[in-house]
Amino acid sequence: MITKVAVLGAGTMGHSIANNFASHGVDVHLYESFDQVRETVKDRIKAEMEMFVEEGYFEVDNIQKTLDHITLFADLEEAVRDVEFVIEAVPEILDLKQELFEKLDQYCGENVILASNTSSLKLWDMMARVSEERKTKVMIAHCYNPAHLIPIIELSYFGNMSEEDFESVRELFVRCEKAPVKVLKDVTGMVANRLLHAQAREAFYLIDQGIASAEDVDRALMYGPAFRNATTGMLEVADMGGLDIWYAAESNFFPNLCAETKPSETMHALVEEGHYGIKTGKGFFDYPEEIRGSAVEKFYRRLIVQMKASRQFK
Ligand SMILES: NC(=O)c1ccc[n+]([C@@H]2O[C@H](COP(=O)([O-])OP(=O)(O)OC[C@H]3O[C@@H](n4cnc5c(N)ncnc54)[C@H](O)[C@@H]3O)[C@@H](O)[C@H]2O)c1
Repeated sequence: MITKVAVLGAGTMGHSIANNFASHGVDVHLYESFDQVRETVKDRIKAEMEMFVEEGYFEVDNIQKTLDHITLFADLEEAVRDVEFVIEAVPEILDLKQELFEKLDQYCGENVILASNTSSLKLWDMMARVSEERKTKVMIAHCYNPAHLIPIIELSYFGNMSEEDFESVRELFVRCEKAPVKVLKDVTGMVANRLLHAQAREAFYLIDQGIASAEDVDRALMYGPAFRNATTGMLEVADMGGLDIWYAAESNFFPNLCAETKPSETMHALVEEGHYGIKTGKGFFDYPEEIRGSAVEKFYRRLIVQMKASRQFK
């Protein structure tokens, strides 16, 4: 059983992956090369844990326990010494990841499993500089953002690892209340992001075509398909509806759905004008300065409520 892990990079994903492990009793060595990030990351995790407690997801004593399970490191070699599993969450730059995995291959014992949280890079491109022996101990372990609030973990199983090693990683994440998805082929976006962006393409197209307002596109999703999908997957929903009906519907729908290979015109115009969403105060919706903090907090609290609700479906 894996009980001690290293998380590399304490940014958006790394701090949140460390939070998830530590709040479920796993010892975490958190490596971060930037002093300022290292000095503030425990306060960030503490604030997130306080929100969990306020929403009744964790007991209050889990805040200190979580922080005690995290040790910070500024030195990579020290950070990965005597851990059983390493997951990196450094920026999405191929050369940086290749260099990191080359070092990890040298610093880590032969049984240590190395994982990347990459969103878009291919496993074998990132592992170009590791030894042949290590290639049986490498994988993608892709979390969704924020990793301490979204249950999914996508785990690559591309034929290079033993069943036993894969199972030890799967079990680690299950212990941390994650829902593992086994991905069998090295494709862009693995499974979840492919599903997400297929749906996003149609949502943005509906706006481009003036078929509904941004508010109504989001309402249609939240109170329609996504409402069902929060508890029941797409394939099971299709089975419930009847495949004969779905088959007939898809024969009519598919020729009429967006099949664009470029991002939407509305999205393009917003990005060109510097409207990147909440971080600039405007995206599809407006976020005046005074509500930005509370908008993010509400988003997080809604996710915690959903996590609590989904515990009963396990
Ligand atoms: N942000 C997301 O929504 C998201 C979701 C899933 C996966 N990912 C993936 O997670 C990884 C990290 O993304 P992020 O959004 O957390 O990035 P980020 O920029 O927020 O964090 C990266 C962290 O790594 C640190 N860092 C930079 N160079 C480093 C180095 N050489 N060694 C060690 N640490 C270094 C930075 O200081 C920073 O704290 C990427 O591979 C990304 O594709 C991101």
